[in-house]
Amino acid sequence: ASKARTAYVCTECGADHGKWQGQCAECGAWNTLSEFVVEPASTATKGGVGASRRSGWAGKVDAPAVTALKDLGHNEEVRVSTGIGELDRVLGGGLVPGAVVLVGGDPGIGKSTLLLQAVAKMAAVLPALYVTGEESLGQVAGRGTRLGLPLDGVHALAETGVERILEHAAKMRPGLIVADSVQTLWTEELSAAPGSVGQVRESAARLVRYAKETGTAVFLVGHVTKEGGIAGPRVLEHMVDAVLYFEGESGSRFRVLRAFKNRFGAVNELGVFAMGDKGLKEVPNPSAIFLSGSRTPQPGSCVMVTREGTRPLLVEVQALVDSSPLSNPRRVAVGMEGNRLAMLLAVLHRHGGVGVGDQDVFVNIVGGIRVQETAADLPVLLSVLSSLRDRPLSEQTVAFGEVGLSGEIRPVPNGEDRLKEAATHGFKRAIVAKGNAPKSGRVGDMQVIAVERLAEALEQA
Ligand code: TYD
Ligand code: MG
Repeated sequence: ASKARTAYVCTECGADHGKWQGQCAECGAWNTLSEFVVEPASTATKGGVGASRRSGWAGKVDAPAVTALKDLGHNEEVRVSTGIGELDRVLGGGLVPGAVVLVGGDPGIGKSTLLLQAVAKMAAVLPALYVTGEESLGQVAGRGTRLGLPLDGVHALAETGVERILEHAAKMRPGLIVADSVQTLWTEELSAAPGSVGQVRESAARLVRYAKETGTAVFLVGHVTKEGGIAGPRVLEHMVDAVLYFEGESGSRFRVLRAFKNRFGAVNELGVFAMGDKGLKEVPNPSAIFLSGSRTPQPGSCVMVTREGTRPLLVEVQALVDSSPLSNPRRVAVGMEGNRLAMLLAVLHRHGGVGVGDQDVFVNIVGGIRVQETAADLPVLLSVLSSLRDRPLSEQTVAFGEVGLSGEIRPVPNGEDRLKEAATHGFKRAIVAKGNAPKSGRVGDMQVIAVERLAEALEQA
């Protein structure tokens, strides 16, 4: 057998390096290289299980022949529902056999709760193995009972050694394995301590290989470290098929599950849950919860309709504009990109005739939501203007639209859907790009005002 070699992996970006160096050549971070042992490549495919036992596509590991793609039979992707609609949505319509899904989030956010609920629902159709390295079996069972989950087909194992976990799996042949958490896993192959980057990466790699060889779906639970990455950061993200982050504001019972990477679906899909005394409940119609509680109009607030994945979502944009004591006033954006805010403020000055050069500007998307699409441009500027003038917009006004560098307001995709969502929630006035407005100027009871230039929009607001 060829010898194992030592390699160095950057804990920031996951890049491999042959030798230790102070700075990662890939991402430029300092002191992030960590030593680990690489297995000789040959063992990776040795003893492959061959064709899949299940109907999934995984399997065939030892036939690297060149094939014309069109000759491959049309292999409809089989998906299994997790029994939790919001989780299915984020996964892209259910769980694909052989898929490895990393679920990351802060400790205590509800990862174990979510996966235990999913496992209990799926156990009816798929033999499931819940491996816990963090809690005792008694604790897991106790939680399951307290949540009123059907625990009939659920098998649990309190074990952290990957070799032993795979031995049990080989006997039991589960269709689904949950490993909670990946930080507790370790392999005999390495002498490094459990929890070290090398151990986490190698242990996860074993499970990934097992998943691909047998068509078993695997959920890996990963705690997010203080630096914001999973397991001595990003080292797992490129090994798995999907990365889901479970997030929530401290003090709020709402939780958002977001796909950060997904080989089997869209990445901008959101799943929304509420944590209660009976575990996580789905929130299938989440628009209303992202509006701040107060329904009386406040200066500096504008409601927008964003579209995360396949559903429109009403969210509130808040701005605070205040004269700055600094010669270089602050621009702070929470939930949107800072550079975009700076650019929008420049357009506001140049094409809207409103200068905020001597003001601090803070913009926040309420509810811990991150908005990445340009539809937020117009509502951001309307909330900035409203705060600057200290005059609220009419409470029943929504807006969305991209603002171009020459001050034009551009349409965004799926305008009709967004307008319908706003009308359903009782909004009476919408300010949107001309290309998004219906000819009639109305959607239901809602008046739709079409604008072409930023100056028009500011006037209408
Ligand atoms: P948990 O799933 O253990 O979090 P993680 O695995 O991400 O660390 O959830 C722990 C928190 O959730 C805990 O602080 C209590 C709360 N919780 C509820 O409010 N209701 C419930 O029914 C459960 C099971 C947990
Ligand atoms: Mg947990």
